[in-house]
Amino acid sequence: MKILGIETSCDETAVAIYDSEEGLKAHVVYSQIDIHALYGGVVPELAARDHIRKILPLLQEALAKAECTSSDITAIAYTAGPGLMGALMVGAACAKSLAFAWGIQAISVHHMEAHLLAPFLEDKKPAFPFVALLVSGGHTLLVLVTDFGKYEILGQSLDDAAGEAFDKVAKILDLPYPGGRPLAELAEKGDVKRFRFPRPMVNRSGLDFSFSGLKTYAANVLREYGQDARADIAAAFQAAVIDVFLIKCKRALLQTGLARLVMAGGVSANKALRERLAKMGKDLNVEIYYPRLEFCTDNAAMIAYAGYRRFLMDGMDQDLKIMVRSRWELGQAINNE
Ligand code: KG4
Ligand code: ZN
Repeated sequence: MKILGIETSCDETAVAIYDSEEGLKAHVVYSQIDIHALYGGVVPELAARDHIRKILPLLQEALAKAECTSSDITAIAYTAGPGLMGALMVGAACAKSLAFAWGIQAISVHHMEAHLLAPFLEDKKPAFPFVALLVSGGHTLLVLVTDFGKYEILGQSLDDAAGEAFDKVAKILDLPYPGGRPLAELAEKGDVKRFRFPRPMVNRSGLDFSFSGLKTYAANVLREYGQDARADIAAAFQAAVIDVFLIKCKRALLQTGLARLVMAGGVSANKALRERLAKMGKDLNVEIYYPRLEFCTDNAAMIAYAGYRRFLMDGMDQDLKIMVRSRWELGQAINNE
């Protein structure tokens, strides 16, 4: 069975084809970064308009790469949320229209569930149950995963998401949008010992996060020490975020008694974070799983795969209504307000 995946929740237009027997057949991503970089952040209306321009050419490209035609496709999975309303609407309308025209089913996919399942696209797949650290531009979640579709949120950010914190601190440091990667590159040149940023919420029990204070801290240090301190600030900020993740992940593993940890979402592309987590895994005898870099950030391979899993769970859309949600809690049904 072949599932077509469509992702348009934010500033990447992506299409992929996943074959239940043969694995991923094609995945193409077009990033709108150049459009939004001018404004220092994603402009929702421009994002939606650009998705409209790119979605069908990308679809044709993916079909050609997978060497198949519309008649080979069993179902169409699309991101129904969370994300930008206008952007989501483009993918949803496209998926529903094509499903209607081709006489097949459409499947609404939760963007964070798709991130969570991205490691299943790799050869080394996690076994259930496991703890997942989901770190993207819009969400920071610690989740207990007992099966496909069975999620219990253990903790989440009370304010900024981790990726958002990277982007905001990057902006303070005059780095281009999105700032996660440039900040990580700048951090490599910095002295990590010069400043010590706070580790928010680690002295409180529980598994929630808070990152908004770190940007204020970064702005204050920059004001006091000047532009020459930029790389050291980047290094100190990144070290603080990574420390918080490690502390909370250890706590979640202890609390659940599990020894398997999955990390996914855009921030999981961070090299220093991957290295520190791998080391923690070795030290604590915990298996760590994360997707390859291109499946950490937004892509449609994870949407097609999550759609396939939803298909097996009988999660097809029941009607032709186009339904998307900007906010949508992981584990809830799409129409559950
Ligand atoms: O998952 P994603 O592609 O989109 C959302 O669902 O939000 O995550 C994007 C976020 C952005 O905030 C970006 O700055 C961050 O992931 N990011 C990184 C790195 N690469 C992307 N953050 C830290 N280090 C990186 N190497
Ligand atoms: Zn994402």
